[in-house]
Amino acid sequence: MSRKSVVLVTRKLPDAVEARLVRDYDARLNPDDSLYTPDGLVAAAADADAILPCHTEKFTAEVIARLPAGVQAIANYSVGVDHVDLRAAKEKGIIVTNTPDVLSDATAETAMLCLLGAARRGGEGEALVRTQAWKDWSPGFMVGTQVTGKRLGIVGMGRVGRTFARKVQGLDMEVHYHNRRPLDAAQACAATYHAELDDLLAVSDFLSLHCPATPETENLLNAERIARLPQGAVVVNTARGALVDEDALIAALRSGRLAAAGLDVYRNEPNIRPEFSELDNVFLLPHVGSATHETRDAMGFRALDNLDAFFAGRAPRDRVA
Ligand code: DGY
Repeated sequence: MSRKSVVLVTRKLPDAVEARLVRDYDARLNPDDSLYTPDGLVAAAADADAILPCHTEKFTAEVIARLPAGVQAIANYSVGVDHVDLRAAKEKGIIVTNTPDVLSDATAETAMLCLLGAARRGGEGEALVRTQAWKDWSPGFMVGTQVTGKRLGIVGMGRVGRTFARKVQGLDMEVHYHNRRPLDAAQACAATYHAELDDLLAVSDFLSLHCPATPETENLLNAERIARLPQGAVVVNTARGALVDEDALIAALRSGRLAAAGLDVYRNEPNIRPEFSELDNVFLLPHVGSATHETRDAMGFRALDNLDAFFAGRAPRDRVA
């Protein structure tokens, strides 16, 4: 009987995904869902042929250098791969895959939730009712920013950006976007292309970030760029915290330069800046962009499809390095 490939699975995955893992691989699961330290990760990978991690495990160049020689693949349970030093993986001959497509709808739904929650003061309202602090109704009570008919600027018209552009049609938003290159008409969803990010900012009553975190996009939204947005704009981030200069964002939310922000992602998660919790005009979620039952299953199956292909000697569909 041929030996099953050993797969180290770093977090507790949905039952259906783990069932397939156990059926097809010698799966080293993590039933307690405890977070690996870098040392723990290297030790746990001792006899593994592949690792199936989440974005919560950081594969720095140092960690990758220390991985046992038997590890041939890192099949991420995420679309983002900023937690993996791709160059170091490539140099060590480890292939890396991700899980695109399957989380676009769920993440775009979360962007919609952040957009509406920020504009219509969803967090404040919920807290008032939940803590029984709601005492009255008056015409000036909890008044927010109307969304319908406003201009939405999308930075990064990849899968999630495009899905979000489609979904906001229901709100009659006028969509503008910045991307490395313009999309063809079918994909652009009637959105207006801006070759320069600064030109997009100038027309964005709402700005939503949908690009990957790379050295080039680090602090993409900084004080200078916030200053180019219309007064009272609303910022949404469901991509990665590293895209935003959080000092600049907090200052703009405090001063009222920005009306509000809806955030699902932060630097240094889950230890977010305390200022965010102190500000009323920020709607906060705990990195739940892809957190639906359907999507979390689909992410696992997609990661497994990639591993299956790799171990069968075929090219994994979602190879990124
Ligand atoms: C992703 O897939 O990148 C999500 O942020 C969860 O990791």
